[in-house]
Amino acid sequence: MADETHVLDAPPEGAAADWTIPQGWDAYTPEEHRVWDTLYERQIRLLPGRASKAYLKGLDALRLSESGIPNFEELSERLMKLTGWQVVAVPGLVPDDVFFDHMANRRFVSGNFIRRPDQLDYLQEPDVFHDVFGHVPMLADPVFADYLEAYGRGGLRALELGALKQLARLYWYTVEFGLVEEDEGLRIYGAGIVSSSAESVFALDDPSPHRIGFDLERVMRTEYRIDDFQQNYFVVPSFDELLRVTVETDFAPLYERIVPLPPLPVAALTAEDKVLHHGTQAYARGKAGG
Ligand code: PHE
Ligand code: FE
Repeated sequence: MADETHVLDAPPEGAAADWTIPQGWDAYTPEEHRVWDTLYERQIRLLPGRASKAYLKGLDALRLSESGIPNFEELSERLMKLTGWQVVAVPGLVPDDVFFDHMANRRFVSGNFIRRPDQLDYLQEPDVFHDVFGHVPMLADPVFADYLEAYGRGGLRALELGALKQLARLYWYTVEFGLVEEDEGLRIYGAGIVSSSAESVFALDDPSPHRIGFDLERVMRTEYRIDDFQQNYFVVPSFDELLRVTVETDFAPLYERIVPLPPLPVAALTAEDKVLHHGTQAYARGKAGG
């Protein structure tokens, strides 16, 4: 989401008033399609038994296994039939109100460029692999589709209420880095995890990070890091429950109470936390200590 700095304040040359641009599918080179295929193959080997059922089902229903970078028109046609969502291309990051407005209208904004072959593992800006492979399968799930639409409307409201930071944390710890409890155990569904081969393993298997039961207020108070693996993951009991609690709660009084409070630092546990796994934090400490 658009919490980074270099966002333009008007649509660039060639973009529509709502900031969308043509995907330019015909302009992708064979090398670019190969980057997608390489990333796809790497992830698809990892994800069974790790990704949530809803994610894997969406991947299948949208036929993302077809070779090459998906064409947004075809993808939107399939998605539209399933949940009424579309995928539209934008030139990188867009202003928050534009991002939320598209989302509130069931349009998922996606970058159209793909990372270079030497950037397979890490990239600061979301490319088409992160946006489409990471996010779009969950949009094929009716419950998660409703959650993201509600989030878009909630975003427009948070802007008015001066609580963007708090709401952005909810996005971060669910849509980007969320875990879900399933019958067989914890599963990943956050786009930042499922689109990263290293974090797909780390988020579930590594003893370092805390894994904490989802609590709305707790999450909205928790800082996050954008430069490395997360030090805490939050686990929702189900997407129904995530949707229920976020839709039924009026965030205005919640914002009023928590906006003035100091944020909770990453990796700090509180007495109220439902700790599912108390992380060793060895990974983060290793990095800090050099
Ligand atoms: N219920 C939230 C509000 O009152 C809106 C929202 C719904 C936000 C779902 C995020 C996700 O602002
Ligand atoms: Fe993302």
